[in-house]
Amino acid sequence: PVSDALVFFGATGDLAFKQIFPALQAMIKRGHLDLPIIGIGRSALSKEQFIARARDSIEQHSQLDASAFSQLSAHLQYLSGDYQDDATYQQLKTLLGDAAHPLHYLAIPPEMFENVIKGLAHSGCAKNSRVIVEKPFGRDLASAQALNQVLLQAFPAADIYRIDHYLAKEPVQNLLYFRFANSFLEPLWNRSHIAHVQITMAESFGVQGRGSFYESVGAMRDVIQNHLLQVAALLAMEPPASHHDDAIRDAKLRAFQAMQPLSPAQVVRGQFRGYREEPGVAAESSIETFAALRLNIDNARWAGVPFYIRAGKQMPLTASEIMVTLKKPRQAVFDTTGAGQENYFRFRIGPDALISMGARVKLAGEAMAGEPVELLAQRHPGDEMTPYERLFGDAIQGDAALFARYDSIEAAWRTVMPVLGNCVPLEIYEAHSWGPAAADRLMAADGGWHNPQLTKDSHGGN
Ligand code: BG6
Repeated sequence: PVSDALVFFGATGDLAFKQIFPALQAMIKRGHLDLPIIGIGRSALSKEQFIARARDSIEQHSQLDASAFSQLSAHLQYLSGDYQDDATYQQLKTLLGDAAHPLHYLAIPPEMFENVIKGLAHSGCAKNSRVIVEKPFGRDLASAQALNQVLLQAFPAADIYRIDHYLAKEPVQNLLYFRFANSFLEPLWNRSHIAHVQITMAESFGVQGRGSFYESVGAMRDVIQNHLLQVAALLAMEPPASHHDDAIRDAKLRAFQAMQPLSPAQVVRGQFRGYREEPGVAAESSIETFAALRLNIDNARWAGVPFYIRAGKQMPLTASEIMVTLKKPRQAVFDTTGAGQENYFRFRIGPDALISMGARVKLAGEAMAGEPVELLAQRHPGDEMTPYERLFGDAIQGDAALFARYDSIEAAWRTVMPVLGNCVPLEIYEAHSWGPAAADRLMAADGGWHNPQLTKDSHGGN
């Protein structure tokens, strides 16, 4: 059934302010949202103050559309309450009125999930409803398993939607499409032809007021265990049996299962200078704001092909890019001394979208000498629909294809488990650099990292 009410916990929080209100207005503008929306938060706000907050959020993070916003305001209600108090859920039940299939979205810190899920279950608000859970799903394998148990006691497995907003990004979906809608890629897409794969997620900003949240995660739990391993799985997976979501998720799961648990020697952790002065951050914090790793995927297709993955805050620019580098021609017919590995596939997944291929062509003249060129397959400004818009719409309709399945989340935890915490020494790096020198050493044998660059043709970005 289609959901007939949207309840979101954490309505006065950071995520709601940056992502959710803008997404709700955008959905209304497209005609994709017409249901009561109940925000729940711990701050005591009147409905008017809540609507004013929604307006501020949209003005700061998107653009106010007077007509869509007035429809949104008409749908909005606010409930302030303590997540541990049964009375909060009783009030919610009253507000839900005759809504028969509510959708509950938990945009709250992970340590509060359990209280809210139990509160929803005990009050009867969970009945015939769906729940969306924000990432990270747990903070290690054991807590992910425990959280999953709590969820399963309140909701049937099919009604649990685990967010990984990367999966809803247009260029991330294109990885799957481009791989399996073309015939020229598959013969090359294996250890015989691919030298290595690199995934970089660089952000030019720091923790932007989210210091206390970030202290509980760090780069490994914030973006590597989820977003970037999901991207790696899409690059590595075998062809799915069909395009149906469970077929795709089954094939992805096998890729996750082939990812070998990381060892400390395969990981570099960094922290930008100045992080410890951020509000909410401990003076002696050993949380990483940068992580780089060399992942092995042990199966017939990928054995021996390293997947290098890195993510960092306070990098020189904001861009996420994938480089799939091919081996050099087996026979060196022409002298290409000095040339690097110039055959590659490059996918930019943010801020704009790009798919291109690296090749070498002859320069006009007597000598058989050439130059590297890039063949552009696609370039566009990025998401037409923000990931949150897409995900809310899908969850309301009951479509879980772009949400992470629990088994893959568990497999991803198994991969990162051995390197969580402080077993990898922390290195300080300068803000606006590409991270600690140790990350360069990690990749040196394979020619060094490819640093994304934004050119004047790049759309968006900062
Ligand atoms: C979030 C992380 O999941 O993804 C943030 O918590 C990160 O730390 C963000 O900045 C990046 O998402 P996007 O869509 O802006 O690339």
